[in-house]
Amino acid sequence: MAQISTNGVSKRYGGITVLSEIGIEINDGEFLTLLGPSGSGKTTFLMILAGFVEPSAGQLFKNGSDITQLPAEQRNFGMVFQGYALFPHLTARQNIDYPLRIRGVPQDKRRSDVERIIGTVGLDGHGDKKPSQLSGGQQQRVALARALVFGPDLLLLDEPLSALDRNMREQLQVELKRLHRETGTTFVFVTHDQSEALALSDKIAIFDQGKLVQTGTPETIYREPNTRFVAEFLGSINIVPLQGPVQDGSVLRGTFGGQLLAAPQSSDMNGYTSCCLAIRPEHMRVSRDRPQDSTNALKVQVRDLTYQGATTDLVLSAADELILTFSVPSTTAEFQPRAGEKIWLSWPADKGKVLTV
Ligand SMILES: Nc1ncnc2c1ncn2[C@@H]1O[C@H](COP(=O)(O)OP(=O)(O)OP(=O)(O)O)[C@@H](O)[C@H]1O
Ligand SMILES: [Mg+2]
Repeated sequence: MAQISTNGVSKRYGGITVLSEIGIEINDGEFLTLLGPSGSGKTTFLMILAGFVEPSAGQLFKNGSDITQLPAEQRNFGMVFQGYALFPHLTARQNIDYPLRIRGVPQDKRRSDVERIIGTVGLDGHGDKKPSQLSGGQQQRVALARALVFGPDLLLLDEPLSALDRNMREQLQVELKRLHRETGTTFVFVTHDQSEALALSDKIAIFDQGKLVQTGTPETIYREPNTRFVAEFLGSINIVPLQGPVQDGSVLRGTFGGQLLAAPQSSDMNGYTSCCLAIRPEHMRVSRDRPQDSTNALKVQVRDLTYQGATTDLVLSAADELILTFSVPSTTAEFQPRAGEKIWLSWPADKGKVLTV
């Protein structure tokens, strides 16, 4: 087990900075997910943690010791890649045994460790098959077993589920969570699938254009996004521009389309001439009449409806310009809006989050 931290880790290729001063703490036994759009630097950062890519600046620490210059094979980290990267000529059992063999682990211990991990990852009965005789999900289980069998201090996983179909992916998500719990290993997991990140992680680190923009628990990042990018990246959200914001103690007031809106705001907003309100759809309500009890209400027109099974997605426009999205339960909604209809969209003032960037 290890406590890992990085300080000012940057990476440049030629003149281009692809990672900029990444500082992060990875606690013992934590499930950390690196989440961000394509090209944001997730794989590069994982490769630097693994020791396969050298940072241009900054340091890495393991239990307080500087490991920046330590070769990959001395870090005792396991790695699972997006492709399965198994040895095609070896059986599942031989693939899993490989890291123990190169580490010179005695024969008896190797045999028992391999059998134990085969059971743990759910590959009983498949040990003698070659990778070509296994399904994608089974091959990824072999890759997981191979990365875990030697008891790594840290397991690095780069989009390990992305090549799998949805069912297999969901099944393996559950398995990954169980493996994490049962082995107590620290996991650093890369994905650009936000629901995967929310479902699996103790902590999420959001990357954008080579920068670490926010780190926190899934709940914190979902409820308290620092920036508009984070708010829009994780889960669906509605953003309403707030014109002429005026602070009144811990409340910020402004308008949109002539309608007065308010939200809690504790930090000083002096100097801001415009900002946004971000509201999660689950805090919003639609009604035919203007709700009496709600400060924040917008008159909207239903532009489009899409039936999604359990819910119906609505595309709404406000003041003829702003597009908002909203889901209502398909069967239990108080009323089912119709296309073209003008309705009211409202939310409690304390559910709006003020964003300045
Ligand atoms: N060896 C390299 N030489 C030059 N540029 C590189 C190299 N490796 C990565 N990059 C660039 O660094 C940036 C970050 O790449 P990286 O692979 O870390 O992104 P990512 O977040 O993992 O993206 P994806 O979600 O698509 O896997 C990209 O713009 C990429 O083109
Ligand atoms: Mg990548």
